[in-house]
Amino acid sequence: EKGGYDYFMLKEIAEQPKAVSDTLLGRIDASGSLSLDEIRIPAHVLREADKIVVVACGTAFHAGLIAKYAIEHWTRIPCEVELASEFRYRDPILDQRTLVVAISQSGETMDTLMALRHAREQGARVLAICNTNGSTIPRESDAVLYTHAGPEVAVASTKAFLTQVVACYLVALYLGQVRGTQWGDEIRAVIRDLAQISGAVERVLETMEPVRELARSLAHKNTVLFLGRHVGHPVALEGALKLKELAYMHAEGFAAGELKHGPIALIEEDLPVVVVVPSPRGRSVLHDKIVSNIQEIRARGARTIVIAEEGDEAVVPYADHLVRIPATPTLLQPMVATVPLQVFACELATARGNEVDQPRNLAKSVTVE
Ligand code: M6R
Repeated sequence: EKGGYDYFMLKEIAEQPKAVSDTLLGRIDASGSLSLDEIRIPAHVLREADKIVVVACGTAFHAGLIAKYAIEHWTRIPCEVELASEFRYRDPILDQRTLVVAISQSGETMDTLMALRHAREQGARVLAICNTNGSTIPRESDAVLYTHAGPEVAVASTKAFLTQVVACYLVALYLGQVRGTQWGDEIRAVIRDLAQISGAVERVLETMEPVRELARSLAHKNTVLFLGRHVGHPVALEGALKLKELAYMHAEGFAAGELKHGPIALIEEDLPVVVVVPSPRGRSVLHDKIVSNIQEIRARGARTIVIAEEGDEAVVPYADHLVRIPATPTLLQPMVATVPLQVFACELATARGNEVDQPRNLAKSVTVE
């Protein structure tokens, strides 16, 4: 049932190109527009929404953090992303014009369920993004957009994450389409780019051997830091979460712009720091700033593990290890940049003799608060 792989996690990492294309399947029509009638929220409700609140836990929360960039950019609707476990305890401001998006692979996470119940009690509409047909979260929501990742068995979420990002982007683009924002042409272009992402993930998977080798060489380390900016920041958080749960290592993700506000004090000789570098073509200011961050941490002894687009030569002099990912539009980069981090964590877990599919103290779905 593991399809020849040693672990479900490896199988699920390998299934990501298909999971991504299956999640897009049937949702883009011949003219290149989105057809998401399955959501069944009347268009006028989507047009009138004045706030979007995303609630989720763990990896699904990181997908939500990425989605915020896309949602606000394409819809111009303010979007908040909140840990489901914090949400209802702070008396959030919600009404009929709030669209709450609850993201959950299992559809059974108690924190997320309680958050959406609270939102509905306040009159908000809830759209679930879920991977498990007929589970509790979609059943209790006003609407659902299923991710088509297929069953995810390993406790560490991989293919579900990529499809959650895809599904959130579909929702963002659909909202943009329904509301007729100024980004019409861009939206059509992004839909075309999204269709290419599965192939890009495939290419990343073909080049992972050096990442595995690197992971094995770091098996004795205690700490790994992750840095990113813009959508690369949630990617850094996700890389750190994977390492915690699988390798039982101290791992932390930071926004690279925060380095000077504290974390740089952690840098010491030979400390591995993974840096997710934004495209030099998109927001090039951010790219240049991250390159100087890499320089700064390396000058202080960090061992830099740089994840950068093919053709990005500016990073070469400062990278102790360079992991290349295909060039993508800025907002789509998380889907290719996360993959090496999953492989890295999985290999480190194996090298440290940990149980990959069933990490200690964790359950696949957390059905208690
Ligand atoms: O089933 P859900 O997506 O609601 O689960 C949320 C988190 O418990 C889950 O993503 C968890 O963080 C994973 N083990 C991360 O790999």
